[in-house]
Amino acid sequence: APNRDLKGLTVMVTAGPTAEPIDPVRYLTNRSSGKMGFAVAEAAVRRGAKVILISGPTALKPPAGVEFTGVETAAEMCEAVLERFPAVDVVIKSAAVADYRPARAAAQKIKKNTDSMSIELVKNPDILAELGRRKEGQVLVGFAAETSNLEKNALQKVAGKNLDLLVANDVTQPGAGFGTDTNIAKLVYPDGSIVPLPLMDKLALAHRILDEALALREGKK
Ligand code: C5P
Repeated sequence: APNRDLKGLTVMVTAGPTAEPIDPVRYLTNRSSGKMGFAVAEAAVRRGAKVILISGPTALKPPAGVEFTGVETAAEMCEAVLERFPAVDVVIKSAAVADYRPARAAAQKIKKNTDSMSIELVKNPDILAELGRRKEGQVLVGFAAETSNLEKNALQKVAGKNLDLLVANDVTQPGAGFGTDTNIAKLVYPDGSIVPLPLMDKLALAHRILDEALALREGKK
């Protein structure tokens, strides 16, 4: 029989990249495929959770049984997440949110009539940091894709964003990061402890993260 150990819990998952418009036909985005977040949503629904999946544009089909909201920009993701946050027990923020967006989206397609051009960027809201400020008993799990100084950056993020757990991965390693079906992650806790995990399927890693989130939730009750 399937293990329904998340029955009674509401789990909100964010996934995918965000797309920040430059003009009506162009946008800024990143290499996130959404696979990690969709795997977490699928694992959580199989274990009996009520699952809210909020995702930027991906090529993936939402798993059966999840409440799905598709968004494009960081601002839209922020609004969707903040609206639901008070009513959830666990948040798993695997989305690769664009840190910056074009200051203005041009109303018309930009013409190629200059030899060079620049696009002014402004900072997007840090959704996860905002959740850390608003948290009232929710278990907050973040992700960090790093290309250098993984442990130092991860420890800073787990503390700075008031997280319960950070899943850090070095996206330069083969078998880790964007687009792959596997990942190599380290679990980083606010007490400074770090648990390195072996190469595993994103679905297996999703279950492992949910095990940790459930244990953290039990510890808070
Ligand atoms: O600081 P960094 O972007 O590496 O942190 C990654 C974590 O923060 C991810 O869980 C991501 O979803 C979240 N984040 C966010 N809003 C941003 C930037 C990152 O929620 N604007």
